[in-house]
Amino acid sequence: MIFLGLASNYTARDILRHSFALGGKKDYTDLEKELSKKYSADLDNLSLTFSGRSAIYLALKSFLESGRLKKGDHVAINGFTCHAVIEAIETAGLEPIYVDLEKAIGGQILPNYSAESLERTVKKDRKLKCFILQNTFGFPVDIRRFDTVKKQYNLQLIEDLAHCAGRKYPDGREIGTVGEATCMSFGKGKSIDTINGGAVILRDKSLMLPKEFNKAALRRRSGGDVPRASWYPLFAAIARGLSHLRLERPWLGLLLKLRWIERSADIKLSTDTTISYWQAKLALKQLKNLKNSALREFYLVDNRGACLKELKKHGYRLEEFWYEVPVAPERYYESVGYPERNNPNAVFFAQHVVNIPTWYRTKRHKKEVAEAKRIIKSHELKGER
Ligand SMILES: Cc1ncc(COP(=O)(O)O)c(C=O)c1O
Repeated sequence: MIFLGLASNYTARDILRHSFALGGKKDYTDLEKELSKKYSADLDNLSLTFSGRSAIYLALKSFLESGRLKKGDHVAINGFTCHAVIEAIETAGLEPIYVDLEKAIGGQILPNYSAESLERTVKKDRKLKCFILQNTFGFPVDIRRFDTVKKQYNLQLIEDLAHCAGRKYPDGREIGTVGEATCMSFGKGKSIDTINGGAVILRDKSLMLPKEFNKAALRRRSGGDVPRASWYPLFAAIARGLSHLRLERPWLGLLLKLRWIERSADIKLSTDTTISYWQAKLALKQLKNLKNSALREFYLVDNRGACLKELKKHGYRLEEFWYEVPVAPERYYESVGYPERNNPNAVFFAQHVVNIPTWYRTKRHKKEVAEAKRIIKSHELKGER
């Protein structure tokens, strides 16, 4: 069976390594040193964080304290994104401005906004001082064009590596080595996955971590702050097994009720908590082994309900795709007041996208993934849209 969520990116070895990982202070500082080297930032100017949204919040606060942004300024973000990004921006007292997804020549909608759309937006919006690039699913933007717009309008850039750590831009530069700040998420299913966690990396040497953030006094629980973070991959493997009996939902429901697991979108924004030593150890290993390959592949299908139904009939569980609404998850969508009329491409994309996992390695699994693609392609949208 092929899955998208439920920690299906973990092999049996990963599950054991994760569940029984032990780490020490050295693992934590080694991870910070590796990030400092990889993204060319001073050690004092970076920190591990409780989540990706905490990292984005801290980067924005440091822009505010340095005077590069002021309260109420606007931050351009992908029109197709995660609620976590909005939470970070709004908590910092700034306003998210959604930029619609690019439509390539030939009519294909791409999962990121273009530099041309950013320029059109910034020309009309004098409060827009910062933009976030998330390189959705690991598909990189054409960074050279963004360089030009950035310089011309004096914008701050945050590279959000949740989907794209280890990937390269078309001009050969590694993602995360271009902007003033680089933010990472180590949440479930991300390029580096330790269930929760992240890192804020201020690359611009004249920036400083915000005053409210006391790196020396961060809280850390030995078991991880997300309930049973260490057992999540094991719980998910049991869920995958139970799915054959259609019992995975009651199992996950029970774990949620017991507060032994947490929904990814509900991970906290915290400035006084960090990851555990064992999580740092796992993150360092993954950081050193990052591959320049997409996190997920995507297709746009005509009738997604019918497509997923057919996939399920053939044993494919691809329902946990990114994202089902332009700002996911759906349960928070209403609350963000998303301007659908200004973002028709993102709305369309969110209605038609399906994802394919890229982490299956065995010959049998690869054959199964190829069969899933065949089914998806029979539903694929064709032509101009
Ligand atoms: C593009 C993007 N950036 C940042 C995040 C933040 O992740 P976290 O849950 O670690 O706060 C997410 C989470 O899904 C995401 O999809």
